Amino acid sequence: MEMSKRGQWGSNFGFLMASIGSAIGLGNLWAFPYKMGKTGGFAFLIVYLILVVLVGSVLMLGEFALGRKTGKGVGAYAALSRKYSFVGYMAVISPFLILSFYSVLGGMVLRYCLGFLVQLFGVDGFSGQGSDFFSWLLYDGSSMILFFAIFMVCTMVVVMGGIKGGIEKFSKTVMPALGVILVIIIVFVALQPGAIEGYKFMFVPDMSLFSTPESFFNVLKTASGQVFFSLSLAMGINITFGSYLDKQKSLQRNATIVPLSDTLFALLAGMMILPACAAFDVDYAQGPGLLFASMQKVFLDGMGGFTGNLMGFLFYFLVFIAAITSSIALLEVCTASVVDRQLDKGKEPNRKKIALVFAVLIFLIGIPVALDALGSGDAVVKAPYELLGIAKDSAGFAMWNDCWLDFYDMISEGILMPLGALCMSIILGWLLPNLVKDECEESGHTFKGAGFLKVCFRFIIPVVMVIVLYTQITSFFNL
Ligand code: PHE
Repeated sequence: MEMSKRGQWGSNFGFLMASIGSAIGLGNLWAFPYKMGKTGGFAFLIVYLILVVLVGSVLMLGEFALGRKTGKGVGAYAALSRKYSFVGYMAVISPFLILSFYSVLGGMVLRYCLGFLVQLFGVDGFSGQGSDFFSWLLYDGSSMILFFAIFMVCTMVVVMGGIKGGIEKFSKTVMPALGVILVIIIVFVALQPGAIEGYKFMFVPDMSLFSTPESFFNVLKTASGQVFFSLSLAMGINITFGSYLDKQKSLQRNATIVPLSDTLFALLAGMMILPACAAFDVDYAQGPGLLFASMQKVFLDGMGGFTGNLMGFLFYFLVFIAAITSSIALLEVCTASVVDRQLDKGKEPNRKKIALVFAVLIFLIGIPVALDALGSGDAVVKAPYELLGIAKDSAGFAMWNDCWLDFYDMISEGILMPLGALCMSIILGWLLPNLVKDECEESGHTFKGAGFLKVCFRFIIPVVMVIVLYTQITSFFNL
């Protein structure tokens, strides 16, 4: 009975669409292609794939198993033992912080999407700013707040609809659309002269990066951080989604399909974005600069005309789907944590109200992110480095004090997430070593990979997590 109050997936396909939707996000679009090109090309890809198998899919399987076994979201840790409950707390603070800035970015995506849409009807969609729109938008507080709010409301409405009627239904509709749009743009871009340089940038292997231990370590740390963020690990997402899955479904199969799809999407995203920049002579960048400034230039100045507006609209619509399916997962983690708590106390949870309260709180803490012009200086809200009177780091490093987004990111992605995953691998590897295997066998199949899982949880993952933690801390604090 409790199960039906929490909600359940209607089908494995629905669960997959929601999980893949959470994994595919801005990280795949604005970080993976550039990082791969800069950090060894095809050689980077090999390291990345090995890490997906040894770390990403194993952690994901562990999270699915934890959720389904306990029937809880982040409360799963407390359900195992009170002494593990702190890991659950870490796993709920991260989505809370990440959602605040993710939705600001999602709002910007929505604004670009709308801009190209109205341009299709002959109206100037970029307020006369043309391809300088990015720098203009960052300082236009009212647009930033308005679109941030709209994005947040869209996310909230889906989460209020519940698991089957909200998240599953939405993901099943939009994720196939995302696939179709992706293919259309890739084919279109491939036909443009000059596109080949983009594929070269991304794929040509640079073996010199493997010649010294330092350069290999550099590849390893970049790839580990990317696997970790891209698969939305240590955020309570896979635990929460796993808890709505019934015992007949195969956890191993799902924990293989999701990382595979995410990696395939990241590669295809690169084959869409980098060749487009190459064909239209736009510099490669990463982060918001790539997604907003560079890509807008491709469509507006490069392609131009009706084609540019149509492709621009399709592109930003795709990015919007990628972003909102991730933000839905983040809000669901927060909402489920309270739903579970109330059920534990014998209360009748009101999902709609809980989602609303979280959406409002997250909106409030996101306001500085929306109003500090991503740390460009002299905005309505001062960035942390301005408040503290620290000189801005000239290397263009994403330091923790660069802007509010980086500050929230430092706490979540920089510290809490790798630490959470480290704790989880210790719990599942050393303290409760049979949990994952037993839960996988619930579906009636014998579990063949127990030895492999043990080695990963006990040794490989902790080492990789220490590397990620070290890398994040040194880069955020510029050590
Ligand atoms: N996995 C998402 C991406 O690649 C980002 C994300 C991280 C979403 C953590 C939710 C939680 O962009």
